[in-house]
Amino acid sequence: MRTRVLTLPDEPDARHAMIAEAAALIRDGGLVAFPTETVYGLGANALDAAAVRRIFGAKQRPAWDPLIVHVTSRAMLDRVARSVPPAFDALAARFMPGPLTVLLERHDAVPDEVTAGRPSVAVRMPRHDVAHALIEAAGVPVAAPSANRFGHPSPTAADHVLQDLDGRIDAILDGGPTRVGVESTVLDISTTPARILRPGAVPREEIAAVVGDVEVYQPPTSGVPPQSLPSPGVGIRHYAPRARVVLVDDPASVRAALDELRAEGHRVGVMAPDGARITTPDEATVFEWGRWGEWDVLASRLFAGLRQLDAEGVDVILCPLPPERGLGLAIRDRLQKAARAR
Ligand code: TXA
Ligand code: MG
Repeated sequence: MRTRVLTLPDEPDARHAMIAEAAALIRDGGLVAFPTETVYGLGANALDAAAVRRIFGAKQRPAWDPLIVHVTSRAMLDRVARSVPPAFDALAARFMPGPLTVLLERHDAVPDEVTAGRPSVAVRMPRHDVAHALIEAAGVPVAAPSANRFGHPSPTAADHVLQDLDGRIDAILDGGPTRVGVESTVLDISTTPARILRPGAVPREEIAAVVGDVEVYQPPTSGVPPQSLPSPGVGIRHYAPRARVVLVDDPASVRAALDELRAEGHRVGVMAPDGARITTPDEATVFEWGRWGEWDVLASRLFAGLRQLDAEGVDVILCPLPPERGLGLAIRDRLQKAARAR
């Protein structure tokens, strides 16, 4: 299959026509990658089981890992969710459209392929004009995982999608790099307190301000098959570049870890915050990550950095871990999953 690269023009009519073309592909059961504010998604008609199965094939994603359904309105949401609790309305008022995904009771119209046979469906309303226009034009809810091969870092630019999926999907709408760079927060509000199943772009503190207490689900570290977790994606090695990922507690610890890895003969790539003081260029391959503490900047550059260091052929990627607050929690989560043993 040839993947059509649809580079969005600025001119409004031409832009509209291109989005309409992509929407027609989705209505016909095709696969279209598109930008959201978090990462690129790989979309298909969520109500078409055959189309949804093609997503799993293209990504080489196991059938037990369910997909998020993307909608643009409450009316569309009612086509995929059977009931909506009051807590949802409060969250929606504050965060939708936006990078929050909430589990709801699944409507019968949603194929088993989407939810991996689970009773809940994950729903989100993206805040990105292209994503919004595409779903509106398609007129159907759109199931979309991140548009990467299963287990790879998520794509934050059209190039990343092509690296992983060229020739395996019908089209990609290139709307430039994504703004946030880490995926949506996945929240379960059926429990008390509500539980964050995947830390993401909406920080825990902001969700707590709306629903009160929120806990962050900690998956068991070993021995449990992903199928039996409350969210299958939380327990697995993920977001992983080819190189081994080595984490240190803070930027001040990078220096010593780098010396040690080099003494062991490794070719090291460093996710280096400004001022990490890696002096000579041949000491390590450096990705200038951004200023420590500017978590939004670091989040937006995280996956691009992992992909770039991989492309430069390093065998170890060394990276300091942000603290567990704000967006730092989501960055930590991605890095810790990327660092899991294969
Ligand atoms: O920002 C995002 O969320 C992006 C953009 C494209 O919207 N999407 C994304 O999808 O990250 P994906 O498939 O890469 O990650 C979705 C996560 C997986 O860990 C999956 O296991 C979990 O959400 N999930 C989806 N449906 C679920 C369900 N019904 N119950 C529990 N977990 C679910
Ligand atoms: Mg993903």
